[in-house]
Amino acid sequence: MIYFDHAASSWPKPEGVAEAVAQAINEYAANPGRGGHQLARQANAKIRETRALLAQFFNIQDPRNLIFCSNATHALNQAIQGIVWEAGDRVISTSYEHNSVRRPLEYIREEYGVEVDYIQVQDNGSLSLEELESSLDENTKLIAVTHVSNVTGAILPLAEISVIARKKNIPLLVDASQSAGFVPLDVDELGISLLAFPGHKGLYGPQGTGALYIAPDLNLTPLLHGGTGSHSELKEQPGERPARYESGTLNTPGIAGLGAGVKFLLERGMETIFKEEQELTIYALTQLSEVQGVQIYGPGLGEERAPVIAFNIEGIASQELAHILDQHYSIATRAGLHCSPLGHESIKTEQIGAVRISFGLFNTKQEVDQLIVALNEIRDGMLGFV
Ligand SMILES: Cc1ncc(COP(=O)(O)O)c(C=O)c1O
Repeated sequence: MIYFDHAASSWPKPEGVAEAVAQAINEYAANPGRGGHQLARQANAKIRETRALLAQFFNIQDPRNLIFCSNATHALNQAIQGIVWEAGDRVISTSYEHNSVRRPLEYIREEYGVEVDYIQVQDNGSLSLEELESSLDENTKLIAVTHVSNVTGAILPLAEISVIARKKNIPLLVDASQSAGFVPLDVDELGISLLAFPGHKGLYGPQGTGALYIAPDLNLTPLLHGGTGSHSELKEQPGERPARYESGTLNTPGIAGLGAGVKFLLERGMETIFKEEQELTIYALTQLSEVQGVQIYGPGLGEERAPVIAFNIEGIASQELAHILDQHYSIATRAGLHCSPLGHESIKTEQIGAVRISFGLFNTKQEVDQLIVALNEIRDGMLGFV
């Protein structure tokens, strides 16, 4: 199997991830933070270790401001629904958002009468910073942006957006689903208020993992209320982090696996990973552009993008193409709208979707070559030789 669907979930995982999960299950997965016995303490220590590794990875000063979630969607919902909304409040977002941002935003629009505006992003990921700045007013309570488009891999100008957010003193929520582990990201330097990310994509952890960073000065309402293993005498949710936002038993085996994934990335170095994946992406773009009838969306060659490429071959439906690649060539890609109809509207493919290929640490140029052979064969077979 050639796996080109890392933007959905990365696979295979680096050595050490499955072992860490198995070790947790087999040796110590007692309830972390819920007891004083040795195994509970060992489970708790593993959670603390992974939290510290994640903080190191994203340059977050205090790991207690990172809360574990079950995926990026959970983290984004905690961020968005955790703000106390009132009718007339405003949110500024972008035309590249995934449904995991858009739907919670549309929910608060319906539920509380919040005004939501989506600023248009260009194919290369740029947006009008003047438009962004002028759209902010005293009612704007949140700027919510994806760092990287999950459709085209376009990288949004986070540093510039963050400068504007800080100047206007408006919290900035970043959906790092397609950048965490794929693109270098420094929370402290950027001054991000809320960072939501999955553990199962670029961080190479298991599914069922994700996290949210909440800046110390932001007090969100917890999405879940319940047992935290601490301050059990209180009838209300404790104030201290991370317990305030982590009701219920955590996914100890998954978090142990995530820790192993992040350790692997830290050892390899984010700059190296980004450089290697850029090289493979540029190679794939170059080869792909030679396929007759291909249309590639997003940033052009020479412009930076995360390792995600969306394309179509004229005359072949994206779903059919992905199906043949899977069934006849064992090449896993993803077709359709990728849970981002907004993103597809932006590149004008909302009616037809696109085939998306996305790379991870272990993909090779030889695998890309095999994809190109397959695409040419499919094209010739379905549309005839030229
Ligand atoms: C940009 C973006 N945001 C959010 C998500 C949701 O991630 P999860 O499946 O971890 O909830 C995804 C997943 O594909 C994504 O690409």
